[in-house]
Amino acid sequence: MTAAAGTASPVLAAPGAPVVGMVGAGQLARMSAQAAVPLGIGFRVLAGAAGESAAQVCAGTVLGDYASAAVLLDFAAGCDVVTFDHEHVPQQALRELERAGVAIRPAAAPLRYAQDKRRMRERLTQLGVPCPPWAPAPGPAEVAAFAGRHHWPVVLKAVTGGYDGKGVWFCAGPDDAARVLALGPDLIVEEHVPIVAELAAVVARSYSGQGAAYPVVQTVQADGICREVIAPAPGLPPDEAAAAQRLALRIAADLGVTGILAVELFRTERGLIVNELAMRPHNSAHWSIEGAVTSQFEQHLRAVLNLPLGAPELAVPHAVMVNVLGGGEPGLHDRLLHVMAGDPGVKVHLYGKQARPGRKIGHVTVTGCDLPRLRDRAAWAARYLSLGTERPAGRP
Ligand SMILES: Nc1ncnc2c1ncn2[C@@H]1O[C@H](COP(=O)(O)OP(=O)(O)OP(=O)(O)O)[C@@H](O)[C@H]1O
Ligand SMILES: [Mg+2]
Repeated sequence: MTAAAGTASPVLAAPGAPVVGMVGAGQLARMSAQAAVPLGIGFRVLAGAAGESAAQVCAGTVLGDYASAAVLLDFAAGCDVVTFDHEHVPQQALRELERAGVAIRPAAAPLRYAQDKRRMRERLTQLGVPCPPWAPAPGPAEVAAFAGRHHWPVVLKAVTGGYDGKGVWFCAGPDDAARVLALGPDLIVEEHVPIVAELAAVVARSYSGQGAAYPVVQTVQADGICREVIAPAPGLPPDEAAAAQRLALRIAADLGVTGILAVELFRTERGLIVNELAMRPHNSAHWSIEGAVTSQFEQHLRAVLNLPLGAPELAVPHAVMVNVLGGGEPGLHDRLLHVMAGDPGVKVHLYGKQARPGRKIGHVTVTGCDLPRLRDRAAWAARYLSLGTERPAGRP
């Protein structure tokens, strides 16, 4: 007997296996889906459109508006736990899910601190966590008073909705500040911190409170966008690295985070200062796919399902990750061929996204012993994928 042809309705996992639902279908969801496969965990996403990065690769994708509690409740009905690829789900909708008994991880209460930079600063200050000096910035008088107590330049930040440096403005004086204030978002003002290096301490905390800390990494930003991540952070004394890991684990426990918590830090002459928090897999730990015993994506799944956590240690001497930004040129897949041929040791991750200038469309990771050479190789591969720029002479 032959089976009738047709479209099978999606079966997400074997009977008895848990299903994780992720709200949002960007690259973080796409890489989480990859991590679910070897664990036999079912994984589905709530996407805004069928063409989104994770929707392209996930069976059982649901299309709908993440801001609608009704859509979220429907989506959650097919999942054992619900987690997030971004922090944009409104608190009201999160609270409604919780009232309906949905296991959302992280919960609404800690997520609020990743959604709102003013609440984050208030809470971290209460917890005695070192932050840049800051104040609410409702108008020019408050910004000028803050600069008077500290100094120009200052940094103005949108309280909600910022990412990749959008929503962060460096203001040299009152005229700059007035221009930003005129844009209208709710703002805080921060001291412009003299940064020695930017670091990230990424940790995981499971639902029952087990913690695991990844090696502290250095992040390199340009124009507010993370370009390069070096694991472990070069030149960071072991006691400072351990202090950063302890701080991140303490923040995760004090805020009651479940899943990955990324703590972005400034290394300064006066010690470590927290820049911001993200409660989801984070760009600063993409290197862990090839470079750690357990990737951050697997770790996030383990944490939200309350499974024992995996070892977060480095599996290689060094890992370097460089983001691939859209260069605006078509022909990415032709360039991929050249990168593969030019350096077979480069691991390429492309997110299935339309290449728009400045948009993160992928990343590359290189692992090994010779850090300067790894940095060159990763930079070349990312730049070539982005722009098709020729390889500098003498480079791999
Ligand atoms: N107070 C500060 N002093 C000096 N530089 C700062 C300060 N705040 C932010 N920056 C710089 O701006 C970058 C972006 O800031 P921040 O991380 O707050 O913004 P974001 O757009 O929310 O970032 P993300 O993409 O990580 O969500 C930082 O990585 C840092 O380089
Ligand atoms: Mg940041």
